[in-house]
Amino acid sequence: DIPSLKDVFKDYFPIGAAIEPNETTGLHADLLKKQVNWLVAENAMKPDAIEPSEGNFNWTNADKLVAFAKENGMQLRFHTLVWHNQVGAWFFKDADGNPMADETDPKKREANKKLLLKRLDNHVRTIVSRYKNDIKSWDVVNEVIEPGDPDGMRASDWYKITGTDFIETAFRAARAAGGPDIKLYINDYGTDDVTKRDRLYDLVKSMLDKGVPIDGVGHQTHISIAGPPVSAIIDSMKKFAELGLDNIVTELDMSLYAWNDRSDYGDDIPANILKNQADKYRELFDAFKANKDIISGVMFWGITDAHTWLDTFPVTRKDAPLLFDRQLHAKQAFWAIVDPSKLP
Ligand code: G3I
Repeated sequence: DIPSLKDVFKDYFPIGAAIEPNETTGLHADLLKKQVNWLVAENAMKPDAIEPSEGNFNWTNADKLVAFAKENGMQLRFHTLVWHNQVGAWFFKDADGNPMADETDPKKREANKKLLLKRLDNHVRTIVSRYKNDIKSWDVVNEVIEPGDPDGMRASDWYKITGTDFIETAFRAARAAGGPDIKLYINDYGTDDVTKRDRLYDLVKSMLDKGVPIDGVGHQTHISIAGPPVSAIIDSMKKFAELGLDNIVTELDMSLYAWNDRSDYGDDIPANILKNQADKYRELFDAFKANKDIISGVMFWGITDAHTWLDTFPVTRKDAPLLFDRQLHAKQAFWAIVDPSKLP
């Protein structure tokens, strides 16, 4: 019998994991119940999963996760009301079925923008109204910053059609439907990168100045053994805390491979690599614990290496970014953050 992450970190923050609907039964579910007290849907609450076509809401999988969390006394986060990915193409088509982003006539562009913001407002209010009592922590918009795009804003259909108005609309609609008790986050990856971090900071500050209800920043924290340095992750959180915002680690995992590395260890991960991973996890959690006043939760993007998005991205190969291996056994990385005295 091994310790539980949720108990080990109970004086610091909740510990969570992303879950798929098919992980609510069986060995995987047992591991989650034992280890974590917080969950988030890996895919089941994304825009295309919940509203695949206009006004057609599909609650089956989302409800399943809400019920699983409730039955097991776990909290749940919502991911995500708005994204440029995994969103129905219908959002961005005008009344004639043409792509709104291609419209050049200024009057029609204005009408398209209005229609898109109305669809967004309805999407957000419908979902938040349904789950506001069950879910307190919400990713309202995901991945809107892209330093390589014009203005540093991701050139998504959302941005091309509405500018930053979609962000404002989504946060205001979420607050209006959910009331003051739900917490609203802007979520992104690479928030340790100084250029990206500062662009995000400027966006959030300008939104707060306009009275847009943003409560915190979600730092995805998809990192690798190679980087970024832990200090850069913490510095970013400190910067947002200075704005009075909360920070959550929303999608933590640690690839064995550096971002541009295309090698594959297969089933034979060298022992020194797993040791390096454990060392970096330990350094990371020591820093999280030391900064618990500005971090309100740590969520892993999965629980075992048997199920991770990194097995198909950026290439198909075997990665091992989490704390439990493919046989569901605790890895060195687990012991490094739970009880380093047990390390070999
Ligand atoms: O459900 C279909 C299935 O019917 C089909 O047979 C199969 C064939 O490809 O695809 C299945 O859909 C996949 C879906 O995951 C559910 O498993 C998609 O192809 C696949 O692209 C999708 O990947 C998800 C990815 O977001 C999509 O962008 C990953 O599981 C999910 O972990 C990942 O999560 C994102 C966060 O939302 C945002 N931050 C980054 C993070 C990692 O990319």
